[in-house]
Amino acid sequence: MHLPHIAPDKMAAVLRGMPKAELHIHIEGSLEPELIFALAQRNGVVLPYASVEALRAAYAFTDLQSFLDIYYAGASVLLTEQDFFDMAWAYLSKAAADNVVHTEIFFDPQTHTARGVPMGTVIQGLQRACQQAQQTWGLSAQLILCFLRHLSEEEAFATLEAALPYRDAFIGVGLDSSEKGHPPEKFERVFARCRELGLRIVAHAGEEGPPAYIWSALDILKVERIDHGVQSIHDPALMQRLAQTRMPLTVCPLSNIKLCVFPDMTQHNLKQLLDAGLCVTVNSDDPAYFGGYLNDNWVQLFSALGLGIREAYQLAFNSFEASFVDEATKRGWERQLKSYFEGLREHD
Ligand code: ADE
Ligand code: ZN
Repeated sequence: MHLPHIAPDKMAAVLRGMPKAELHIHIEGSLEPELIFALAQRNGVVLPYASVEALRAAYAFTDLQSFLDIYYAGASVLLTEQDFFDMAWAYLSKAAADNVVHTEIFFDPQTHTARGVPMGTVIQGLQRACQQAQQTWGLSAQLILCFLRHLSEEEAFATLEAALPYRDAFIGVGLDSSEKGHPPEKFERVFARCRELGLRIVAHAGEEGPPAYIWSALDILKVERIDHGVQSIHDPALMQRLAQTRMPLTVCPLSNIKLCVFPDMTQHNLKQLLDAGLCVTVNSDDPAYFGGYLNDNWVQLFSALGLGIREAYQLAFNSFEASFVDEATKRGWERQLKSYFEGLREHD
């Protein structure tokens, strides 16, 4: 496809207006400090922070674990179905404003069931928000249930069992939380059962952990996408496998900077991964904690790495290609993307 020349100072507007999919967003990571305090008050939960400002000031992370400790504390205010609806609705409103046409949303049920919140409360609140986003904006939203990898295989099986009455409310399963020391193979049997159930399969791998975890996510869990995967750069054979199979990577630029995976955005390896032929996508991970929603990730990444219109088209195309929707729906969004870029030419 012929792409028009876009002046660098016009790229941000092009990126913001472009139709796109988001494939890596933890809904609990979209909980803004203001909403955390509002829900704490509504539910009579006492927080270990005096104010919104004090909470925000604690968002100075040194690695994944330093973030997770605060992220799980923030989620402690979620108790009722309305709480889960309100959290998801706030995210979906921002996604719609960012011209996201499709989003696949992670949720961590064990963070809530461990506090006595019923599985149905979590799933039904999130599902209602997803349905309302479709009706309100035509924004397509699906749920992916994540198992917490710092917990046991037995607890993951119990979580799956508790979620099965709501099987139609989520399209797949993922694996998140503390990566180092918790390799994918710990969950081999749970994921085998999920595959039998016809669930789509993803896993966080190679965020902080070694390339070996990406190999085992592929070969043992049999994932259909790798979440993060940026550490694959250290393993040429793995890079070749990922490129040849067009295995999608859901990369999260601002997350990687805030969690010190790269020292700053100019050092991010997304362009190297893209140039090596990998099916890379751009995502926000935990936008309330990492300084921006999806469009902020696109704009800051493009500015720091000096990326242009060709990369914008390729990365947005990849976001649709890597999504878990039927082929006809993908083709429809890809046509929408193409006409967006064709429309730019008239104003060039
Ligand atoms: N849970 C929420 N965000 C996460 C991340 N970036 N890595 C692992 N688990 C997470
Ligand atoms: Zn993540």
